[in-house]
Amino acid sequence: MKISFSFTSLLALSSLATGSLANTFRSAKWAAIPPDYNTDTASMYESQAAPITGNMTSFWNNDKNLILPAINSNGGVGKPANIDSQVFLAALHASLGDGFYTVDSDQMLASVVAKTNAFKPLYPINADTEATVNSATMPIATWSTADKVTVTKATGTFFNQMKELYGIGFTNVYEVGATYTSDSDTFGEFLANTMLSGDRYMARVAHHTDASGSMTEQWLRGEGTPTGAPNLTWPFEVHTSAARHRAAASRIVYGN
Ligand SMILES: *[C@@H]1O[C@H](CO)[C@@H](O)[C@H](O)[C@H]1NC(C)=O
Ligand SMILES: *[C@@H]1O[C@H](CO)[C@@H](O)[C@H](O)[C@H]1NC(C)=O
Repeated sequence: MKISFSFTSLLALSSLATGSLANTFRSAKWAAIPPDYNTDTASMYESQAAPITGNMTSFWNNDKNLILPAINSNGGVGKPANIDSQVFLAALHASLGDGFYTVDSDQMLASVVAKTNAFKPLYPINADTEATVNSATMPIATWSTADKVTVTKATGTFFNQMKELYGIGFTNVYEVGATYTSDSDTFGEFLANTMLSGDRYMARVAHHTDASGSMTEQWLRGEGTPTGAPNLTWPFEVHTSAARHRAAASRIVYGN
């Protein structure tokens, strides 16, 4: 059976692992349902948390240094590079602030770097322009909430990629293994540079959006010509949600 790393699996896992699903049943006072049913259902969900956590953990591939989009595949359409944006969508929409496949986790940062490295040279749409396609998974909020960033090997590689690909330089020296707290200039620069990197994505969206503001379902991988369903709700919703997150990031980084 093929299992995909998706919002559904991450969301199911999160509600099981945190016990929120079980608690819903445990505290339920639904008159029509016998109390034993709720208690039994809660216990059943609790017992599922560990096996599902085990399955989710196996999406991380240490040799490839990335999160696999699917495991246990036999047949179907494979992903030769084992890279799929569904992994980032799952983290953005379904991860909790528990460090498990969160946007700022080493696994997610390593996967963002792998995706950008793999796709940058592959398609003309990713060729250098001021607006460079990058992942919009930027860990600004989580770092800011934690009031610190511990630079791991994965964080270091994520910063190096900003330097190499987008010319976003760091004036403050940082070291892998060190922790930088919110009172340091280094911490401020991590957030500001990460925001700058995310802005490349917003600039790319603007680049492919015509003056009327109309958006389509997809862009062609050549020159980024709009294609697919015109004026689809999804791109507009994603864009307003990205703009909202960008505004929140700006308040964190620049105070406005
Ligand atoms: C999920 O993990 C459990 C171990 O926790 C294992 O027994 C089971 O085979 C796994 N399921 C799949 C489909 O990989
Ligand atoms: C998409 O929306 C724009 C702006 O409202 C409109 O001008 C255009 O006709 C729409 N396109 C289609 C195919 O409906």
